[in-house]
Amino acid sequence: MRVGLLTGGGDCPGLNAVIRAVVRKGVQDYGYDFTGYRDGWRGPLQGSVSRLDIPAVRGILPRGGTILGSSRTNPFKEPDGVRRIRENLAKDEVDALIVIGGEDTLGVAARLHEEHGVRCVGVPKTIDNDLSATDYTFGFDTAVNIATEAIDRLHTTAESHMRVLVVEVMGRHAGWIALHSGLAGGANVILIPEQRFDLDEVCGWVTSRFRASYAPIVVVAEGAMPRDGDLVLKDAAAHDSFGHVRLSGVGEWLAKEIESRTGKEARTTVLGHVQRGGTPSAFDRWLATRFGLHAITAVRDGEYGRMVALRGPDVVRVPLREATARLKTVPDALYAEARTFFG
Ligand code: F6P
Repeated sequence: MRVGLLTGGGDCPGLNAVIRAVVRKGVQDYGYDFTGYRDGWRGPLQGSVSRLDIPAVRGILPRGGTILGSSRTNPFKEPDGVRRIRENLAKDEVDALIVIGGEDTLGVAARLHEEHGVRCVGVPKTIDNDLSATDYTFGFDTAVNIATEAIDRLHTTAESHMRVLVVEVMGRHAGWIALHSGLAGGANVILIPEQRFDLDEVCGWVTSRFRASYAPIVVVAEGAMPRDGDLVLKDAAAHDSFGHVRLSGVGEWLAKEIESRTGKEARTTVLGHVQRGGTPSAFDRWLATRFGLHAITAVRDGEYGRMVALRGPDVVRVPLREATARLKTVPDALYAEARTFFG
């Protein structure tokens, strides 16, 4: 049995931990061979491979990024994409594919399995934590820790200068990173895509924070939108091959609005890809390792068209289609809890 492995979409801490666990268990317990495909779906599309055996995965558990590389390639947008993938898998004698990715990468796996019989098992990853079938994706905890540390640091400099500091965090159209890091870091305002914000209300919170002789920290998710406007984008023309717009820009815009409405100096920190880089947290190493172990066991059981998912303490298998069908967003009640600390 030969198993192919690829990592697609935005990278996140923990990808290497999955690769290591899959290969270790696959070789030691099941006697499988592995082929690493380079750069997401571009690998099987172009026949671009890496050696993948136990020596190749030694020492990679704490390393960020992915030893296989990643990309946002969409094979359904490439001429003859599906035929080329099937031919390369056959040429490499790959019997099954473990696909580590988010909504887009796993959506491709679901279609390849359902429509073209490619034997795929999915592993969910994304710092955004927006896949509905799993309680958590690995990468999220690390991103939240990085953002929380940044907010802690920004508190001290904000107070030295009595400025408003706006922190823009990632998360695409879900506010999980903003909510968790904002609560953990003691932000005075948290703005998320699920709840349109009112600028007057935000300025009211900022002003009341100054009245209490503290400087406000405003955490804004890149996908957050004002009540009477749309997404605020630095580069509205930039899209990826899955058609997603490149988010970012709301932080800069918000600081300008706050400054002109309150008369207080306001600056922005955009955390950007720092949230995706570096070593995974202990939780993400643990989760990614368990996902890897369960994914290779799903291959051994011949359970294709499935994704591994965390439900409470258990790793379960869910249909790939279900895994990518619905975005997991922040419920109203969770956001309402955080509002206690606004202002
Ligand atoms: O999905 C992960 C993520 O980091 C989002 O939070 C963000 O909007 C997007 O990827 C950025 O993608 P890229 O690195 O391709 O610009």
